[in-house]
Amino acid sequence: MKVKLIILVPFMVLVSMVVAQQHVDQMQHQHDSNSITLELIHRHAPQFTNNHPITQHQRLVDLLYHDIIRHGIMSHRRRAKEEDPLTASIKMPLASGRDFGIGQYITSFKVGTPSQKFWLIVDTGSDLTWIRCRYRCSRGDRSCTRKGRINRKRVFHAPLSSSFSPVPCFSEMCKVELMNLFSLTTCPTPITPCAYDYRYSDGSAAMGVFANETVSAGLTNGRKTRLHNVLIGCTDSFQGPTLQNVDGIMGLANTKYSFATNAAATFGGKFSYCLVDHLSHLNATNYIIFGTNRNQVKVSGNTRHTQLELDAIPSFYAVNVIGISVGNKMLEIPMQVWDASVGGGTIIDSGTSLTFLADPAYQAVMEALKVSVSKYQRVKLDGVPMEYCFNSEGFNGSLVPKLIIHFNDGARFEPHWNSYVIAAAAGVRCLGFLPARFPALSVIGNIMQQNYLWEFDLKGKRLVFAPSSCNSS
Ligand SMILES: *[C@@H]1O[C@H](CO)[C@@H](O)[C@H](O)[C@H]1NC(C)=O
Ligand SMILES: *[C@@H]1O[C@H](CO)[C@@H](O)[C@H](O)[C@H]1NC(C)=O
Ligand SMILES: *[C@@H]1O[C@H](CO)[C@@H](O)[C@H](O)[C@H]1NC(C)=O
Repeated sequence: MKVKLIILVPFMVLVSMVVAQQHVDQMQHQHDSNSITLELIHRHAPQFTNNHPITQHQRLVDLLYHDIIRHGIMSHRRRAKEEDPLTASIKMPLASGRDFGIGQYITSFKVGTPSQKFWLIVDTGSDLTWIRCRYRCSRGDRSCTRKGRINRKRVFHAPLSSSFSPVPCFSEMCKVELMNLFSLTTCPTPITPCAYDYRYSDGSAAMGVFANETVSAGLTNGRKTRLHNVLIGCTDSFQGPTLQNVDGIMGLANTKYSFATNAAATFGGKFSYCLVDHLSHLNATNYIIFGTNRNQVKVSGNTRHTQLELDAIPSFYAVNVIGISVGNKMLEIPMQVWDASVGGGTIIDSGTSLTFLADPAYQAVMEALKVSVSKYQRVKLDGVPMEYCFNSEGFNGSLVPKLIIHFNDGARFEPHWNSYVIAAAAGVRCLGFLPARFPALSVIGNIMQQNYLWEFDLKGKRLVFAPSSCNSS
C-alpha cells in the first residue's frame, strides 16, 4: 500500500487510517516499532462541500472567518484558565462552540465492535474525541434528553457495540480527571455512566456519556489493528448549529485523554504530519502518522528540531520563539511578545489557517515584507480582513525576502515563500498574517506549516521539522 505523509495539527482533518505494520494489537511495549496513518482531507474538498464549486476568494473568506473566531476562543480560554483554573473550567468549554466548526481537516475513523465508520474533524485545539451516538435514549434512560436528540442515519449505536464500556460516575476518572471535560456530578447509582454537558459560548451544547471504546485502523497490508480503552464521548444530544457532513471531532490537543496523547503513547510517543499546499491543490491527500515516520514521508533538506514546550500554554503545543528575521535582518520585536508567562508566547496549530502575530511582531513583519511587493498594484479583496493584498501579475516569488522564525535553542524555521505571500484569489496574493492585540498568543497556522514534515515527539518533548513535498516517493 502507499503510505504517505501527514497533516498536522490545528485543523480539522478527515482521516482514514492506514496502518504501516501489524501486530499492533499486542502488548504495549511491542507497539514502539509500529505506526498508524490516517488520511486527512481538507474540509473544502469536494466531498465535504457537496460538490459546490468554491472559489479561491470564497475559501479565503471562510478560512479567515474561522481563524478569527478560533483565535478569540483560544485567547479567552487561556485567560480564563490563568485567572481561575476552577471556575474557568466551568465557564469555558474546552472545545468552544465554534471551535469544531473551525478545524480544517477531516478523517475517517472506525469505532466499536463490530466497527462503524465515521467522519471526524481533526482538531489540535480539542481534547475530547466525540461522535454522534445513541445510548441513553435507546435504553429508556431518564437522563435522555429528547430535545436536540441525535436523529440521523449515521450515528453510533453504542448498545450494539460489545466493546463500549461506559466510565462509571462514581469513579475518580469521572469525578476528578474528566472534570476538565465537563463531566457532571450527578450520580444516582454507582454504575450510571459519567455524563457530560458541554456548554458552548455560542449557546450550543453537546450532551452524552464518556466511555472507553475500541477504535480500529486499517493496516497497509489490508489487515486491521485496534486501539483499546480509547476515551470517547458518546454525544446523544446536541443543540446548536449542525456540523455539516461530519459526525464528530477527533481531539488532538496536548491533554491526557486526547486521541493524540493516547495514540502517540501506543506508538512510540510521537505523531507527525505533512500538509500539502491546500490553497493550490484542494484535493491533495495529507496524512497524520502516529508512531515513527519510516520514510512514509520523504524529507528534502535538513531536519531541525526545537523544544516542544508541553506545559507552557496548557493544552496547546507551544514553541519557544525568540525572533523573526526577514531578508537576514533580525526584526526589532520586544521579547514580551514571545514570553508565555506574560500573556505572549507562540503555539503551532493545525486548526488555524493563517498565522497570527502579536501586534509588535505583526507590524515589524508587515513593514519588512511590504517593501518587497510595493511595486505591484495594491488591491482590496471583499470580505478579506487582510491588510496587504496585491495584483500578482508578473510577480516572481523568488524575489520575496526569506522569512525565518528563530527559536531560543538556535533552531530556525524557514517557511516556503508561498506560505507567507499566499495565493488569495485569481491573480491576487496577500501577505498571510493577521494581527492579534498585544498581549496575545501568536499562532503558526497550517498554511505556514505547508510542505514541511512536522513531528511532535511528546515523549522527547521535541518538535522536529524538515522541508518535504509530503510525498512518499
Ligand atoms: C478506561 O480506560 C482507562 C485507561 O485509559 C482505565 O484506567 C479505566 O479503568 C477504563 N475504564 C473502563 C470503565 O473501562
Ligand atoms: C485533483 O483534481 C483535479 C481536477 O478535479 C484532477 O485533475 C486531479 O487529478 C486531482 N488530483 C488528485 C491527486 O486526485
Ligand atoms: C524568477 O526569478 C528567478 C531569478 O531571478 C528566475 O530564475 C526565474 O526564472 C523567475 N521565474 C519566473 C516564473 O519568472
